[in-house]
Amino acid sequence: MLRTDVVINAVKERSYPIFIGENLSDNIYELMSKYTKANKFLVVTNETVYPLYGEKLKKNNTEFVILPDGEIYKNIDTLNRILDRAFSLKLERKDAIVALGGGVIGDMAGFAASIYQRGIDYIQVPTTLLSQVDSSVGGKVAVNHICGKNMIGAFYQPKAVISDINTLYTLDDRQYKTGLSEVLKYAFIEKSCCADENYNLFEFLECKHNEILRKEKDTVSELIMICCKLKSAVVNQDEKEKGKRAILNFGHTYAHAFEKITDYNTYTHGEAVSIGMKKIFDLAKRLNKIDNAYYERCINLLKTYNLQIETKDKYNPEEVYEIMTSDKKVADKKINFVLPCSEKEVEIRNNIDKKYVTEGI
Ligand code: NAD
Ligand code: GLY
Repeated sequence: MLRTDVVINAVKERSYPIFIGENLSDNIYELMSKYTKANKFLVVTNETVYPLYGEKLKKNNTEFVILPDGEIYKNIDTLNRILDRAFSLKLERKDAIVALGGGVIGDMAGFAASIYQRGIDYIQVPTTLLSQVDSSVGGKVAVNHICGKNMIGAFYQPKAVISDINTLYTLDDRQYKTGLSEVLKYAFIEKSCCADENYNLFEFLECKHNEILRKEKDTVSELIMICCKLKSAVVNQDEKEKGKRAILNFGHTYAHAFEKITDYNTYTHGEAVSIGMKKIFDLAKRLNKIDNAYYERCINLLKTYNLQIETKDKYNPEEVYEIMTSDKKVADKKINFVLPCSEKEVEIRNNIDKKYVTEGI
């Protein structure tokens, strides 16, 4: 084992550990048993992840539900399949769900756990970079609805997060970069996270890009730990997104609209986020909110990691704007944007004139 960092996400009485290390799956069952009182575990996974890692979780008291792979299946019908399996196995309130996979599985399995018999325990075993740095931490669980992304869901914290960095070596380049988009997001909002320590993630990303792109183990596990600590700091201040937590949506207002307009089949979530972040930097520039040097530094960082920053097609700006108006981030019929206000700091604004927003689409 390379290292096992335990980050306590102190969401008051619902704190839980985040394990980041290597070969954690060798003793995953012991870890899972330590953090729940379950007699039975229902492992929720998909057709891609099960053949890779399913075997590691097989025990007498683990059962599986293997779902089709893809964001297009992140919906209420697939959620029902998880619930049906839980009922057919007669899962009791003491039992637990385990999410084995990326963010799609984590969000759906967590949501199923939150509503099955009014809520049972669940454990996140994230297997993509995106899910290890972001979606497995913080308790947002959801499925998509025809009206928009993650429109049906809950805030429901897991009992533990177990991130084995070895799973990242079966991830293809596109999916690894998808995770890096969310990593860069933390660098752009770092100061506003108000973490106890200053991690200098931006500089870390600038200096260590070779090691990160090569998936060098020490560097990647440190990277995941920094992201989890930054996210924990935000969630600890505002678990249910009454204010502060919205900064984690940096770039997401545009991102969710691009994902929806393409029926979730053109961009990965991370690709949409990196495009969305570029759009936000451009918007900030049009509004004279960002100085040139910082703008260039941010765009360079996106380019260093070769992240997608332009859309693959031209979309009708009116249509994209219309989608934005039905997003969860709308309050009092106003669209919330997270805008850079100074280096590594952001502010939430809901009064941006439509013409500035649509100009860059
Ligand atoms: P994903 O779950 O679709 O996984 C990406 C692909 O990688 C899938 O094909 C999956 O089967 C495959 N895969 C997973 N682990 C693998 C491995 N170790 N080796 C090989 N292939 C593997 O996508 P994602 O990027 O992990 O997550 C995106 C989802 O997360 C979106 O639905 C997004 O809305 C959600 N999300 C949620 C939060 C949150 O706070 N809850 C935050 C960010 C994103
Ligand atoms: N990924 C956004 C959040 O967790 O709030």
